[in-house]
Amino acid sequence: MHISRCKQSTMEFSLNKLFLNPLVSALALLFIATTSLNPASASKRCDFPAIFNFGASNADTGGLAASFPFAAPKPPSGDTFFRRPAGRFCDGRLIIDFMAQRFGLPYLSPYLDSMGSNFSRGANFATAGSTIRLQQAAVQYRTSPFSLGIQYQQFERFKPTTKFIRDQGGVFAALMPKEEYFDEALYTFDIGQNDITVGFFGNTTLQQVNASIPDIISNFTSNIKNIYNLGARSFWIHNTGPVGCLPLILTNFESAERDKYGCAKSYNEVARSFNQNLKEALAHLRKDLPTAAITYVDIYSAKYSLFRDPKKYGFELPLVACCGYGGKYNFSNSVGCGGTIKVNDNDIFVGSCERPSVRVIWDGVHYTEAANKVVFDQISSGAFTDPPIRLNMACHRK
Ligand SMILES: *[C@@H]1O[C@H](CO)[C@@H](O)[C@H](O)[C@H]1NC(C)=O
Ligand SMILES: *[C@@H]1O[C@H](CO)[C@@H](O)[C@H](O)[C@H]1NC(C)=O
Ligand SMILES: *[C@@H]1O[C@H](CO)[C@@H](O)[C@H](O)[C@H]1NC(C)=O
Ligand SMILES: *[C@@H]1O[C@H](CO)[C@@H](O)[C@H](O)[C@H]1NC(C)=O
Ligand SMILES: *[C@@H]1O[C@H](CO)[C@@H](O)[C@H](O)[C@H]1NC(C)=O
Repeated sequence: MHISRCKQSTMEFSLNKLFLNPLVSALALLFIATTSLNPASASKRCDFPAIFNFGASNADTGGLAASFPFAAPKPPSGDTFFRRPAGRFCDGRLIIDFMAQRFGLPYLSPYLDSMGSNFSRGANFATAGSTIRLQQAAVQYRTSPFSLGIQYQQFERFKPTTKFIRDQGGVFAALMPKEEYFDEALYTFDIGQNDITVGFFGNTTLQQVNASIPDIISNFTSNIKNIYNLGARSFWIHNTGPVGCLPLILTNFESAERDKYGCAKSYNEVARSFNQNLKEALAHLRKDLPTAAITYVDIYSAKYSLFRDPKKYGFELPLVACCGYGGKYNFSNSVGCGGTIKVNDNDIFVGSCERPSVRVIWDGVHYTEAANKVVFDQISSGAFTDPPIRLNMACHRK
C-alpha cells in the first residue's frame, strides 16, 4: 500500500573550562540563573512515560499488516534487526523505534493489532498509506482507510477504554497505560506525504496539489487540537520529507527536472510548500494552546542531507532502492520488495541489496534502518526543530 498506482505497493560545555575565566563564569552563572527563573526554558529533562503516535508508513509498526495481511511488508523487510518483517516497511527499525528506545520504552504496539499488544507505554495509530484527509479513491490509490481523523477517533475510544479495562482488573489491566500517562506522554506525528503523493498520481497538476495544501494543513491542525482536547500536551510533529528524491517519484516522473543531487525539483517544492504551511500553522497553534509544547521537526532537511552529502554519513547510491527491481533507480511499479517477477520464464525474487547498512532507500518509498538512525540522531539533537530543543526537552511544563 504505497500510494500510487503501483501494484505494490552542548550544551555540554565544560564547566571546568568555563570557571577558569572569571568573566565567562559570571556570564555562565547569569545564564544558569535566568534559565532557571524562566519555566519555559527550564532545563530539566523530560521523562516521557509513554508515546502515542499518529501517522503513515514511516512510523507504522504493524497497524496495516494487522488490518490487511495481503498488504503487509514481506521478507526481506525486517531482516537487519527484527529477523522478520515486524509490520515495518524497512529492513529494520524506524525513527519511532529509535525514539522509544531513547526513552527506555518498548517498541510501540499498533492499536489495530489484537495479538500480543501491550499498551502500557503507549500505542501506535499510524498505518502505512494513511493520509490526513480521507481519500475518496482510497482503494484506487491504495491508501489506507485509517486517515488521521480516524486515528483521532480511535484514540478517542482508546483513552476511556483503557480506564474501563484497568478498573475491571484481570490480565488485561496491566497492559493498559496509567491514567496520568495521557497527560505526560509524548504525542508524535509523521503524516502528509501520502496526501501530496496521491495528488501527484491523480488527475491533478502540481499547481493543483500545491493549492490543496492549506486545506490539508488546516485538517492536520484541527486533529492536533482535538487530541489536545483529550489531554495531550507534548507534541513532536515531523514535517514531510523530500518526496522528489524517492525512486517512486523519480521512476514515474522521468522527465521532471532534477536538482544537482538528482532529486525531482518541483516535487520537492510541493513538499517544502507543505512544510512552510505546517510551520506557520503550528506557530498559530502555539498561541491558541499556550499550555502545550508544540515542536515542529524539519525532517525534510535531515533527510535531504543524506542525498546532498551521502559520503559524509557513509552512504552510497542514495537515489537507488536497495530492495527493488529494474531501471535506473531499482524500482518498478509492477513488483515490490519481497515480491517475485517473471522475466523470460524465470521467477526473480526481489530481495535485499548486499549491504543495506550503506544505503539510504530501502524499497523505493521508505528509508533503511541505517538512514533512519542518522535522521533520528540529527532531529533528536535539536538542530532541526522549532523551537530548537532536544527530543528529551520537548515536554510541556506544569
Ligand atoms: C508490558 O510492557 C511493560 C513495559 O515494557 C512490561 O514491563 C510488561 O512486562 C509487559 N507486560 C507483558 C504481559 O508482557
Ligand atoms: C478532515 O477532512 C476529512 C475529509 O477528508 C473530514 O471528513 C474531516 O472532518 C476533517 N477533519 C477535521 C478535524 O477538520
Ligand atoms: C481529468 O481531468 C480532465 C480535465 O479536468 C477531465 O476532463 C477528465 O474527465 C478527468 N479524468 C478523470 C479520470 O477524472
Ligand atoms: C505553492 O503555493 C504557495 C502558497 O501556498 C506558493 O507560495 C508557492 O509558490 C507555490 N509553489 C508552487 C511550486 O506552485
Ligand atoms: C536492486 O534490487 C535487487 C533485488 O531485486 C538487489 O539484489 C540489488 O542489489 C539491488 N540493486 C542495487 C544497486 O542496490
